[in-house]
Amino acid sequence: MSYKASGNVAADEYNQIWHKCWNTNVTMWDKGDISPALRELIEEKHWQLPDGQGIVPGCGRGYDAMFLAKPTLHMVGADLSPIAVSTATKLRDEKGIPSKLVEFKTMDFFKFDVPQDKFQVAYDYTFFCALHPSMRASWGARYAEILSPGAHLIALMYPLAKSEEDRERGPPFLLNEDDYHKVLDANFELVHIDPECKTHDTRAGVETITVWRRR
Ligand SMILES: C[S@@+](CC[C@H](N)C(=O)[O-])C[C@H]1O[C@@H](n2cnc3c(N)ncnc32)[C@H](O)[C@@H]1O
Repeated sequence: MSYKASGNVAADEYNQIWHKCWNTNVTMWDKGDISPALRELIEEKHWQLPDGQGIVPGCGRGYDAMFLAKPTLHMVGADLSPIAVSTATKLRDEKGIPSKLVEFKTMDFFKFDVPQDKFQVAYDYTFFCALHPSMRASWGARYAEILSPGAHLIALMYPLAKSEEDRERGPPFLLNEDDYHKVLDANFELVHIDPECKTHDTRAGVETITVWRRR
C-alpha cells in the first residue's frame, strides 16, 4: 500500500498499513539488530544516557529499546501492533533481559497517557519516515509533550532523499534535515549531528544521526 506524500490522511485508516504488515509478516524494514549509528553514539562516542525512563516509538521487534535499557533507565518500546509487541517481548525473554529494564506495550504514540515524570530520552528510527508527512507536525508536538525539559530525542534520520521525485510517495516517506527542523525547532535545539555515522550496509549514505535537546 502506498500513499501520496501530499494532502492529508485519516490516521486510523493510515495505521492499517502497519497492522497489515505485521499480520502478514511483511517487515522488510527489519535489519534484525541494533542500528549501528545508535551503538556507535553510545559505545564509541560515549554519549551519556540519562537515568529515568525512555521510549522507542514504533519499536518493531525492539532491538534498540533493549540496547538502551540499563538498571537506572527503564525503557518502553511502544508499537501500534500487538504482534510487534509480543514478538519483542518474546525476544527480550529469550535474551534473559528482565522486564523491569524494558517493557513492550501496544500503544499509539499519539494517544497514550503521558507518565507524570515524562520521558528523559526517546529514540526515533524508521518511525518519522513511517508516518504520513501530514502527521509530522503532530509528531514534533507530541515529543515536546512527552519529554521532560532537558531530555533528549535521538533521531536517526532515514531515509534521506536524494531528489524531490524520491519524496512523492511512501511509506517510507523520504526526508531531509529541514523536515525535522520544521517540526522540532519550536521546542528543541539540535545538539549533535553526524552525517558520517555508522550504518547498516544497505543504508550507507542515507542515514544521519542527530540528538535534540528539549528546552
Ligand atoms: C517501519 S517500522 C520500524 C520498526 C522498527 N523501528 C525497526 O526499525 O525495525 C514502523 C513501526 O511503527 C509502528 N507504528 C506506526 N505508527 C505508529 C503509531 N502511531 N504508534 C506506535 N507505533 C506505530 C508500526 O507498527 C511499525 O512497527
